[in-house]
Order: sequence, then C-alpha cells, then structure tokens
Amino acid sequence: MAVIAKMCPHVKVTVVDLNEARINAWNDENTENIPVYEPGLSEVVAEARGRNLFFSTNVDQAIEEAEMIFISVNTPTKTYGAGKGMGADLKWIELCARQIARVSKSDKIIVEKSTLPVRTAEAVKDILQNTGSGVNFQILSNPEFLAEGTAVPDLLNPDRVLIGGDQTPEGKEAIEALVGIYANWIPRERILTTNLWSSELSKLVANAYLAQRISSINSISELCEKTEADVNEVARAIGTDSRIGPKFLKASVGFGGSCFQKDILNLVYICRSFGINEVADYWEQVIIMNDHQKKRFALNIVKDLYNTVSGKKIAFLGWAFKKDTNDTRESAAIYVADELLNEEAMIRVYDPKVKEQQILGDLNYLATRKPEENSEHVAVFEDAYSACENAHAIAILTEWDEFKDYDWQRIYDGMLKPAKIFDGRNILDAEKLRAIGFKVKSIGVK
Ligand code: UDX
Repeated sequence: MAVIAKMCPHVKVTVVDLNEARINAWNDENTENIPVYEPGLSEVVAEARGRNLFFSTNVDQAIEEAEMIFISVNTPTKTYGAGKGMGADLKWIELCARQIARVSKSDKIIVEKSTLPVRTAEAVKDILQNTGSGVNFQILSNPEFLAEGTAVPDLLNPDRVLIGGDQTPEGKEAIEALVGIYANWIPRERILTTNLWSSELSKLVANAYLAQRISSINSISELCEKTEADVNEVARAIGTDSRIGPKFLKASVGFGGSCFQKDILNLVYICRSFGINEVADYWEQVIIMNDHQKKRFALNIVKDLYNTVSGKKIAFLGWAFKKDTNDTRESAAIYVADELLNEEAMIRVYDPKVKEQQILGDLNYLATRKPEENSEHVAVFEDAYSACENAHAIAILTEWDEFKDYDWQRIYDGMLKPAKIFDGRNILDAEKLRAIGFKVKSIGVK
C-alpha cells in the first residue's frame, strides 16, 4: 500500500489495523523504526506518509470512506479442527468481510490481497451480498508476487500484476478500476486480467512451481553427494537451457518463508477435498522432499561429528529464512536446530537481523521440549566471532553476504579442531577454507 501511495499521489491510502502498537510503530516519527525491515521501504513511507498515506486504528471510518478496500490479513495454516495442518484458516478474512458488511453505506470494490484457497471469494461474496443494506460489492482477487528482501523493487517493477474478477459488466468495471491504479506506473501489457478463480489459483500454483524447483534441485543434491557430480555444476548445466532457466536452482538446506509450505499444503488440501489424490500426492512430495533436506542436513552434522553432538557446541550463522530479512517463519534453521537439540547439542546462533527473543520463540513454538531446556541449550550472540569461539562446528543456515567476508583464519584459530563447516547455502569458498585447515561440507558436493 505504501508503494501504491508513492506512485499514485492523487489516491488517498489508509492502512488500518486493530493492533495499536503496530500502527503507532508505522507512525513513528523516525521511519527507520517502522515494524517491517525491507530495503527501501522506510524511504517510501517517509515520502508518502502524511501526504496521501495514513496509518490508523479507526477501522470503521476507513471502511466507510473507502471506494476500494484491500483485505490483507494473515491466512495461516489451520492449527485445529478439520483441515488442521493443511487448510488455510480463514477466520480473519471472514471477520473482515463481516465488518465491511456491517459498516458500509456506499458501493465498494473489495480486493483480496491475502493469499487464499481457490473459491474463497465465494464465501466473501456470500457474506457481503447478504447484508440487506442495499450496498453493492464487487470482489476482485489481486494476489501479491513480491519476495521478501526485494519487496520494494519487486513492487515498482513487477513481472506482472494479476487481477481476477467476475466476467459480468459490473465485474469488468471493477477490474478496470484496479487496473487504473496499477497503470500509474506499470505498463498495461504487464497487467493480466482473468476470472476470479484463475487468479486465486494462480497464486498458489506460482508458489508451488517455485518451491518445486528448489525441491527438485535439492533431491539431486543428495544424489550428487553419493556420486562425483557437483550440484552447482549440474544447476549451471541445466539452467542454461532457456526452457529451464537459471533462477531458483540453488541447492540449499531447504526452503523456508511464510508462503511456500503454507500454499502447497493448501493446494494439496484442496485437491484432496475434491478427491483428486494423485494430484495431491504429486505436490505434497515437494514438502516431503524439503523436510527430508532439512533433516538430512542436521543428521549429516551428527554423523560427521563422530555420531554424537551431545554437549558439543555448534555455531549457527544465520537464522532468517533468507538473507536481507529479519523474517524467520518456517526457516530451515529452526528445524535443523530442533533436530540437533534432540541430540543434546549446544547451539550458538548469530544472525545479523534476528534477535534472541525471536530465536527462542521459534523453538518454543515447536513445543518439542520445555522452554527452559531451549534457553539452556541455545545461546545467541551479537557477532559471529563470539558465536564461533570454541565451537566444534559451524553451520551456515542463511546466505547473508557478510559471511563471505569474515576473517576465517581468526574464526579457525578460535575453534576446536578438527574445525568443521557445514555450508547449507554453498556461499563460502570451500577451497580457501580448506587451505586454512577447515573441514568443509557443502550441499550436493561429495
Ligand atoms: C516467495 C515467492 O518468491 C514470492 O513470489 C511470493 O509472493 C512469496 O513467496 P519469499 O518467500 O519472500 O517469496 O522468498 P523466496 O526468495 O522465494 O525464497 C523462499 C525460500 O526458498 C527461501 O528460504 C530461500 O532461501 C529458498 N531458496 C530460493 C532456495 O533454497 N533456493 C533457491 O534457488 C531459491
């Protein structure tokens, strides 16, 4: 919404949330204190805030005034009841729809921005169209394809914008209204319009395809470790085929983030609910492979440290699910740590952007053991050198650029020998490290 406000100074954008502390943070005088870390975002907020971008907790007033409302609430995987662990929890979407229905006195366009299971618009429509107030609502689907860490450039220059709506005259008019917003800075040919259901489904499918590429290359990484093939070379060799393309072929300790796993689980759940189990199984394998990759990485560390890590210090460099973000949702680091804590390892974490409270919170959320045990076995450091001091091994969990430029000789000197590095992101120069004396294991290289 900040980027829309920046690019459309003639449009008034009001962002509302029930959470007062969060809204206050968005209104903080110093835009460096806004609650989301994303390169370039504080500058965008500084430019538009107070001009045509406003943050408020007055939800009803904002609904009443708006001609177009974007629903951008979270849709986590259900943790209870039918569809537990698979389906999306649409509680917040429904509450939004009910509030909009209750408050609105004039016709509005409602835009689903949250990622939703296909046919959710049906439920939203049902609630909105049965208010009896005579107000007309048009529902659009406008999924977001930005990636974290590059959100601002992705929004300023997207590969495409997708807008789905009813194929009726009123629906088409609503689609055109939203096209008109994006057309302020995005060439028309990059604004795709479809029916509602194609748009909702395309978002899930885009994420499933991206995640599938990672699971595919990760599956090959295990085979490479058994043979003399090098997964980096294989990725380069296949990626130069223009039909395959070079992106999303980086073998890793496993993908994380708030979207991939959740959206695939959603896709699988929808397929199962229609009884198309072959399709469900096909996509579920992407998740199974990813879980396997995370576990395999942890167990390789145990195996390499003479089959026991009990009481051994293992330094984790990185905790975020990828570089340039402080987001840790579904980060591979959490699951690798959990596995190693089961083996009684002592974990010492350094991440340039993630703080101790978050790290312990992530582990406690899994409820594998008591919070006191997690606190006892996990120490968080302010710099990498302290985290690696006296460690038996280092595991690279996030591809932060700064890791490449460390004084690795200094780190080596402070470690127990043999000093081992498990590079879960293949970002370090293994040959250089070996010359220092490290024993290095990369993903997908024998
Ligand atoms: C993703 C989609 O890219 C985006 O279009 C969608 O809107 C939201 O989900 P995001 O989760 O922010 O974005 O990050 P992304 O860059 O896609 O990375 C996801 C995970 O895959 C990260 O853990 C990343 O480290 C991992 N990854 C990515 C790999 O392991 N290998 C790769 O080659 C690429």
